[in-house]
Amino acid sequence: MKFFLLLSAIGLCWAQYSPNTQVGRTSIVHLFEWRWADIAQECERYLAPNGFGGVQISPPNENIVVHNPSRPWWERYQPISYNICTRSGNEDEFRDMVNRCNNVGVRIYVDAVINHMCSEAGSSGTNSTCGSYFDAQNRAFPAVPYSGWDFNDVKCRSGSGGIENYNDAAQVRDCRLVGLLDLALEKDYVRTKIADYMNHLIDIGVAGFRLDAAKHMWPGDIKAVLDKLHHLNVTWFPEGSRPFIYQEVIDLGGEAISSSEYFGNGRVTEFKYGAKLGTVIRKWSGEKMAYLKNWGEGWGFMPSDRALVFVDNHDNQRGHGAGGASILTFWDARMYKMAVGFMLAHPYGFTRVMSSYHWPRYFENGKDVNDWVGPPNNNETIKEVTINPDTTCGNGWVCEHRWRQIRNMVAFRNVVDGQPFTNWWDNGNNQVAFGRGNRGFIVFNNDNWSLSSTLQTGLPSGTYCDVISGDNVEGDCTGIKISVSSDGRAHFPISNFAEDPFIAIHTEAKL
Ligand SMILES: *[C@@H]1O[C@H](CO)[C@@H](O)[C@H](O)[C@H]1NC(C)=O
Ligand SMILES: *[C@@H]1O[C@H](CO)[C@@H](O)[C@H](O)[C@H]1NC(C)=O
Ligand SMILES: *[C@@H]1O[C@H](CO)[C@@H](O)[C@H](O)[C@H]1NC(C)=O
Ligand SMILES: *[C@@H]1O[C@H](CO)[C@@H](O)[C@H](O)[C@H]1NC(C)=O
Repeated sequence: MKFFLLLSAIGLCWAQYSPNTQVGRTSIVHLFEWRWADIAQECERYLAPNGFGGVQISPPNENIVVHNPSRPWWERYQPISYNICTRSGNEDEFRDMVNRCNNVGVRIYVDAVINHMCSEAGSSGTNSTCGSYFDAQNRAFPAVPYSGWDFNDVKCRSGSGGIENYNDAAQVRDCRLVGLLDLALEKDYVRTKIADYMNHLIDIGVAGFRLDAAKHMWPGDIKAVLDKLHHLNVTWFPEGSRPFIYQEVIDLGGEAISSSEYFGNGRVTEFKYGAKLGTVIRKWSGEKMAYLKNWGEGWGFMPSDRALVFVDNHDNQRGHGAGGASILTFWDARMYKMAVGFMLAHPYGFTRVMSSYHWPRYFENGKDVNDWVGPPNNNETIKEVTINPDTTCGNGWVCEHRWRQIRNMVAFRNVVDGQPFTNWWDNGNNQVAFGRGNRGFIVFNNDNWSLSSTLQTGLPSGTYCDVISGDNVEGDCTGIKISVSSDGRAHFPISNFAEDPFIAIHTEAKL
């Protein structure tokens, strides 16, 4: 009995930090702007068979329809109501997706936009994804309903009513973020409306939430909302499971608000991770991969068990939402694959892979003037994600998660789950290697000369298939083969001109 109580206390204590993925599935993927019907199919045909733990979806609740510019991605961050009704699909399609993904062991995480409603510049009328009436000037959102009392117009203490000074924590949380009408989360009525929305999704079967713009909400207000949430649906989750929570707090240092204020509520997005890793792989600011030896807390990051990590996200891949020019994306594919490979091999944090769509990126004076462009569409209807014969995606979808190097590193992370960080090696420059106990080993050559070294892998002897250059297809490796001798050592040759200048081996890809 005592033992049982202790276990359940630990369970509760860790609850909101645990992603609720199936055992042995250790990463999630953000299928940015995908339709629910496509996500349901992707769970069944690709994510489950390849060991992905879950999907972060775009906001499912009704949003404003913006025509100027034409249907930007950011319109989905301007809520009009909590009806499940967007360009990604309606509530029936949403339920079908959650059912089908859960049934193959792939979890759904909702991007919850609860800090604000649409912009103060929003008009009045019914230009919303479900046709609900709203009047931004008069703070009327009858489909919730919210009215003037439910916004922070009076509480905000800046001259303009918007955030003017990021060194003033009260302004950051009580005033309008880029003009977005700021909800009064101190009111129990508002908290209840938000919790009702989130509970509706929990009952349908979602496993957790990304809290958009969490930095712009008081941690105590977020906690009050989270305290109202149901346990997860027992059709798929153990009784008493709590929703996984990860909060979007952009903390690169030097501001009034820090990530640590939010640790009590759940995990927090570690924005330093992608910014620093991009700087290292690009070899900017004198950085070298050799310095990654103490990657993680040693670089001033938050504790690993509080961190949600990513190389890029939907904001900073297009120059929004912090990180700066160092952020690596699919546009820099060779370096990007190395960065994602490093992230997935390294034990720090809970990992999220990005999956994007193409847009006509075009820089004028250092700024991408097309950073607003929404998903591939036919006359505003989001295009289906088609699958080419070579398993890549068509119709303008990038599908980084289907790139062999990234898909195979998601599997690598599952294989080495729980294993320690071991056998670090570096050449003092940009050639590095490390292992994960006796399950996996990875070697990078980001120098502009070739690597040829014999390294201790920690792996059992045998011939392994490099999962970066190929696949283990029915016992035959389509890529480079690495032979580990009985003392655990292996020779690695990596040309600096290789298509992908890194090699990864693990025990499930032993021939
Ligand atoms: C909706 O947007 C269109 C295009 O900008 C505009 O012509 C129309 O007046 C808007 N309708 C309402 C009800 O606001
Ligand atoms: C859990 O999901 C199942 C399957 O969709 C559904 O029948 C049931 O009503 C849900 N439970 C709750 C508490 O909503
Ligand atoms: C595009 O969609 C609008 C609004 O639904 C419709 O009025 C128009 O006929 C459509 N145009 C084409 C070319 O399909
Ligand atoms: C190698 O990189 C260094 C520093 O990044 C650069 O100065 C040098 O020209 C490069 N050499 C070659 C052969 O590319």
